[in-house]
Amino acid sequence: MSPTTEGLGPRRRALLGSGLGAALAGSAAALTGAASSAGGSSAGATTAAPDVPGTVPFYGPRQAGVTTPPPAHTRWVALDLTPGATLEDLRRVLRIWTEDLARATQGASPLADHTPELTREHTRLTVTVGLGGSVFEHVGRPDLAPPWLAELPPFATDALEDRWSGGDVVLQVEATTAEATARVQRALVRAAGAVVRHRWTQAGTRPTPGAPTWRAPRNAFGQIDGTVQPALDGSDDDLLWRGPESGPWEHASTLVLRRIAMNLDTWEELDPVAKEHAIGRRLADGAPLTGGHEGSPPDLTASGPHGFTVIDPGSHMARAMPREPWERFLRRPCAYELPGRDEVGTLTARDTARSAHGLLFAAYCADAHRQLVPVQRRLAEADLLNIWTVTVGSATFALLPGVQEGESLGERVLAG
Ligand code: HEM
Repeated sequence: MSPTTEGLGPRRRALLGSGLGAALAGSAAALTGAASSAGGSSAGATTAAPDVPGTVPFYGPRQAGVTTPPPAHTRWVALDLTPGATLEDLRRVLRIWTEDLARATQGASPLADHTPELTREHTRLTVTVGLGGSVFEHVGRPDLAPPWLAELPPFATDALEDRWSGGDVVLQVEATTAEATARVQRALVRAAGAVVRHRWTQAGTRPTPGAPTWRAPRNAFGQIDGTVQPALDGSDDDLLWRGPESGPWEHASTLVLRRIAMNLDTWEELDPVAKEHAIGRRLADGAPLTGGHEGSPPDLTASGPHGFTVIDPGSHMARAMPREPWERFLRRPCAYELPGRDEVGTLTARDTARSAHGLLFAAYCADAHRQLVPVQRRLAEADLLNIWTVTVGSATFALLPGVQEGESLGERVLAG
């Protein structure tokens, strides 16, 4: 453990619990400065070298973890503020997390890390911090809530459970190893002390060997999932990020996380033709059933020998395709598994020893109500995939704008 961080963890935790965190946050900042000037792995050093293999830059106008190519492991950790926690408590936790993340994402230990020896490898760690609408109520400042953030309306196909839904604050933790995401969760939650309590953790994986890429992974049904996406070259930024009209929320985004249980027992009874029919794409290469390759546009009007359209109008793809130019959003799905557990909502798993599987459907957009809700409504009305899926959790968060050095996450949006 470095001399600058030794013994800090328990002390900082104790101070947070006793409401003296503000004084400590100042001392933590001083320690970060000390580490930088001593040539440690400071955030300042990494800003100057954004191409360090295995790390993703922390500082920038927008948080990492949205347009960042998804690595193999993601976990979302939802926290609630404890009763009595104030706006100042929230600001203080965000200050501490900012310091910790500036270090941890660049391969240095968070200040209160008890096992810094485990942090040294570069795992392309990113942590994206978001606030749920409930947090503004909790701290008695509903006026600070961004007007574009609201829970999704209920959908007929939902069977939502509290244990997978809602939350005041979210940490989206991503890395190339599960171990790195688990350790960072632990360090950040510990650093927040008594200000927060755990609400849920949802962890998923993607079959992404090697370096993360934007190639669509396969989901638990074996489908290539994540093909059609907004452009990430800046031309679709208005779909992904809040613009200057949002004042302090400029460069924020919205995360919609839907936990969708998938009934593999009944899906596995289908032959490949029926599976492809349900989605409108080929299993082998993800191409539309009307031909071409994964990136080819589908032809919804083409019909087969019996006069029916080749792509069923009730297929998932046909229902999900945008009907308006703004009905688009970024998807970074990953698969979850609960070994030996029955978690299929209203669907019945025949043999829970085969474990429960599902999709953590993570969507990112500037305005979920305008962009995503119309699509979700169409899917709830009719989507062949609904036979094998049920949504058991839902949560929506405003992802905070990014930070520059010397600034704290949420500082501008929580001012006042
Ligand atoms: C377990 C649930 C789901 C599964 C297995 C699934 C699977 C897929 C697959 C395989 C594709 C085709 C390839 C691609 O473009 O990615 C697709 C497309 C898509 N899905 Fe899903 N999906 C699920 C849930 C959802 C939900 C909840 C939404 C929206 C609220 C959604 C929105 C979309 C959209 C917008 C597309 C692209 C349509 C297009 O323009 O071609 N999906 N999905």
